[in-house]
Amino acid sequence: MTLDLDCPPTGNHQNPNKLTSSTPPAITPRPIIIDTDPGQDDALAILAAIAAPELKILGITAVAGNVPLDLTANNALKICELAGRPDIPVFAGRDRPLRRDLITAEQVHGTTGIDGADLPEPTTSLQPQNAVDWITEQLTKANEQEITICPVGPMSNIATVLEAYPTLSSKIREIVCMGGGFFVGGNTTPTAEFNVLVDPEAAQIVLHSGAPVTMLPLDVTHKALMAHHWISKVRTLGTHCGIAAANMLEFYERFDMEKYGTSGGPLHDPNVIAYLLHPEMYKGRYCNVEIETISPLTTGMTVVDWWGVTDRPVNCYYITEVDADGFYNLLLELLARLP
Ligand code: BDR
Ligand code: CA
Repeated sequence: MTLDLDCPPTGNHQNPNKLTSSTPPAITPRPIIIDTDPGQDDALAILAAIAAPELKILGITAVAGNVPLDLTANNALKICELAGRPDIPVFAGRDRPLRRDLITAEQVHGTTGIDGADLPEPTTSLQPQNAVDWITEQLTKANEQEITICPVGPMSNIATVLEAYPTLSSKIREIVCMGGGFFVGGNTTPTAEFNVLVDPEAAQIVLHSGAPVTMLPLDVTHKALMAHHWISKVRTLGTHCGIAAANMLEFYERFDMEKYGTSGGPLHDPNVIAYLLHPEMYKGRYCNVEIETISPLTTGMTVVDWWGVTDRPVNCYYITEVDADGFYNLLLELLARLP
């Protein structure tokens, strides 16, 4: 028997997004939790999700990553405020990785994490509950395979939940994360992508949790670089969100443009939301993915068995292709719906 690696294997790694001609259009919005470390690209992911009626954001959980937790949590509140959705509950989670010291990325995102735009101070406060406890509570009361988790930062929060309560993985419909990189290498060390490098143990726990995991790594985000005329279109929306987004993105892409010598930077995190809305714009392969947690040289490396050369079990839908125009058209369309 030959194994078609582009098709989902049997078991719990079937693509829950794939529509067939007989599938009726979804009418109930898909419940999601956005787990994030804003971050300008995180901000765009949150704005895109808020604008999509197909998604119901149960809450936003902040984690330490691009900048420390107090900033990422406050940034999440500011983004909800900007989008006119201060009612979305925001929870602060872990202020450090599971077993390591925190690494941050102010050189990319600025000292606030969302430099570039001067966002209004939030009128609402953080929820009193810790994000880890809140996610645990949400999963506990959910039906089997009900909730989709969208980590767009280090996966410390969700890994803490799954390490403490492994059976809660059955309540997860899918974990769709931005993280990792294999074919293009790393963006923070030669072999490691930032989100995975910050908390490699967390990423490994998630990959071994038994929940269906879909990864949108650098291999795909680097195939869809921002164009100046696209950012101009975002600015020309003339709305609070459009102008703030354009300001954030112009600040954000300068670092990557210089680093990679390209005329635009990748816009990583919104790919998670675009994938949920239009999985047909993406292509990948079901394969085994492991994270290096021991070697000092390659800590945080995403090791993808793309060619099936080991007998390690399939645990991930690893995405490598995107319709870049489709992605940016969708994002613009979503941003245009916001105030
Ligand atoms: C990831 O790291 C962060 O800097 C971005 O927000 C994104 O989630 C890309 O490596
Ligand atoms: Ca992020």
